[in-house]
Amino acid sequence: MNELDSLVASAQALFAQSATPADLENAKAQFLGKSGRITELMKGLSTLSVEEKKSRGAVINQAKQAIEAALNQRRQALADAELQAQLKAEALDVTLPGRADAAGGLHPVSLTLERIEGIFGSMGFEVADGPEIETDWFNFTALNTPEDHPARSMHDTFYVEGGHLLRTHTSPMQIRHAVQHVKRYRQQLDAGQGMPEIRVIAPGRTYRVDSDATHSPMFHQCEGLWIGENVSFKDLKVVFTDFCRTFFESADLVLRFRPSFFPFTEPSAEIDIQFATGPLAGRWLEVAGSGQVHPNVVRNMGLDPERFIGFAFGMGPDRLTMLRYGVNDLRLFFDGDVRFLRQFQ
Ligand code: FA5
Ligand code: MG
Repeated sequence: MNELDSLVASAQALFAQSATPADLENAKAQFLGKSGRITELMKGLSTLSVEEKKSRGAVINQAKQAIEAALNQRRQALADAELQAQLKAEALDVTLPGRADAAGGLHPVSLTLERIEGIFGSMGFEVADGPEIETDWFNFTALNTPEDHPARSMHDTFYVEGGHLLRTHTSPMQIRHAVQHVKRYRQQLDAGQGMPEIRVIAPGRTYRVDSDATHSPMFHQCEGLWIGENVSFKDLKVVFTDFCRTFFESADLVLRFRPSFFPFTEPSAEIDIQFATGPLAGRWLEVAGSGQVHPNVVRNMGLDPERFIGFAFGMGPDRLTMLRYGVNDLRLFFDGDVRFLRQFQ
């Protein structure tokens, strides 16, 4: 083997050993680069005679072309290998069985809220929605609970800048909804013609610094409000009892109206229901606060308390869900464990 043949052979061997495009370019530089072996040989031609230049140049050129051919071949081989590897990595096995859609379902508390809206809807109540981030005015002051009122201490929550807070109950919706309603009928009222009764429920999320088996820091309430010219505490008892008996599909369900205090109602009562079955059978659970709307609150609605009267309640749909399904810790509803939640679908 002459000198040039062995040069070509060593280039071919080195290219074959190059495992990556970068290795291959380094190997190429050894032969075809600025100070590569072939380039050096070409430079050496300058000292030869014209005749010698011709024949020697042709031989070197042949070797150069052989090396370039080997280089291109290896480049192509590396590119092919890379493509194959990529195809393999991204391969789709179209023969695999498909993945079935997992059937979703409504959260048990959502099921309760739908039920509540359905039952009160059938009794002529509208459904209203309002903000979870409230102002101090709607959450407390308008509800006859001024600053420094001791009842505020039972409603600790997140306070954010600008006098806003995470609402501690849905009662601010009493004011928000009534004010809108009264605005709509202002002219009629001023002309002494009265207005359609306010009959509304307002379900939604509420927040308090609370946590035990019957209290969650984020929970749900559903406010109810009925204001007219002749609505009494008796109507509250009838409406709420009727609602509970329909909700629990039990005509002889027993409710307990327990005297209580809220700044925004007078008189006030908490409403308890007895667990019928399950580990808590026989135990009473408070499901709502209620009462006849306080004259100061009626005034904050923009109405004359000498003429308009009514009742309000605020119930806990999470507690109703506990009772309905016999669950003994309502925090389970908000843990997000699908094994628990799937049972309600
Ligand atoms: C109130 O929040 C009053 N706004 C209710 C009211 C409305 C009274 C209108 C009069 C007129 P109370 O703090 O008792 O009241 O809460 C009402 C219901 O919400 C409770 O009976 C309970 O069912 C539910 N509840 C209260 N705190 C929690 C909590 N941390 N987790 C789950 N449910 C709760
Ligand atoms: Mg209470």
